[in-house]
Amino acid sequence: MNRLFITGTDTEIGKTLVASALIRHLVAADYRVAGMKPVASGCENTDEGLRNDDALKLIAAANVELPYETVNPFAYEPAIAPHIAAQQAGRLIDINRIGQLAHSIDADYLVVEGVGGWCVPLGESRLLAELAMATADEVIIVVGMRLGCINHALLTAAQIERDGLSLKGWIANFVDPDMQAQSENLATLQTLMPCALLGTLPWQNSDRQIPELKIRGTNLFKNDFSCSRL
Ligand SMILES: Nc1ncnc2c1ncn2[C@@H]1O[C@H](COP(=O)(O)OP(=O)(O)OP(=O)(O)O)[C@@H](O)[C@H]1O
Ligand SMILES: [Mg+2]
Repeated sequence: MNRLFITGTDTEIGKTLVASALIRHLVAADYRVAGMKPVASGCENTDEGLRNDDALKLIAAANVELPYETVNPFAYEPAIAPHIAAQQAGRLIDINRIGQLAHSIDADYLVVEGVGGWCVPLGESRLLAELAMATADEVIIVVGMRLGCINHALLTAAQIERDGLSLKGWIANFVDPDMQAQSENLATLQTLMPCALLGTLPWQNSDRQIPELKIRGTNLFKNDFSCSRL
């Protein structure tokens, strides 16, 4: 079982789109893949309960079916920082519970989307790093390719290593079609990042379909001894 935690250089830089594309890539390679968005604010109040768009997208991409409450156990309606939403709702984020759920899932791959960037508080002096540690073995950084991303990417990678988590690699998401010197920025990051570039996601002019991730090299499957077909 491979458990991957998807974080990013910021909120709204494409974690969900990249996580969905990654899930689809793994499904296409014949793996059984599940997704989780354990903590989500900005949820919609429906007849079935609170529903989060990111969680629904991960469910749609995955091929291991799970109850909604397993994918997204901590859902909050206001689109605010999760520790504040949790406090307002009177339902604190229970990292141990999330860890138990993550470890109860039977799949070849579990892809867990974080929330916001890396240093997001989850309440009671706990940070996203603890959630990553409880749910996954390796972290993938989605770098939203736009001005300022080199600083954000290097700080994020350095902090993940300082927190004692293992970096699987990073994915360049071309979220800004007007970004200048894209290939030069990509080359600079490839030189300076302490982990491998796993793939890239070009800018999409439509969000109707899950886009195809352009995988680089063999690093994505490097630690995967569960299957002989790759
Ligand atoms: N490569 C891309 N091309 C075009 N649009 C993109 C790309 N990546 C992300 N977007 C768009 O940017 C927006 C934010 O993407 P997404 O929801 O995946 O970000 P996120 O990091 O998961 O955000 P959050 O922090 O809210 O979870 C979405 O509208 C998405 O369709
Ligand atoms: Mg998201």
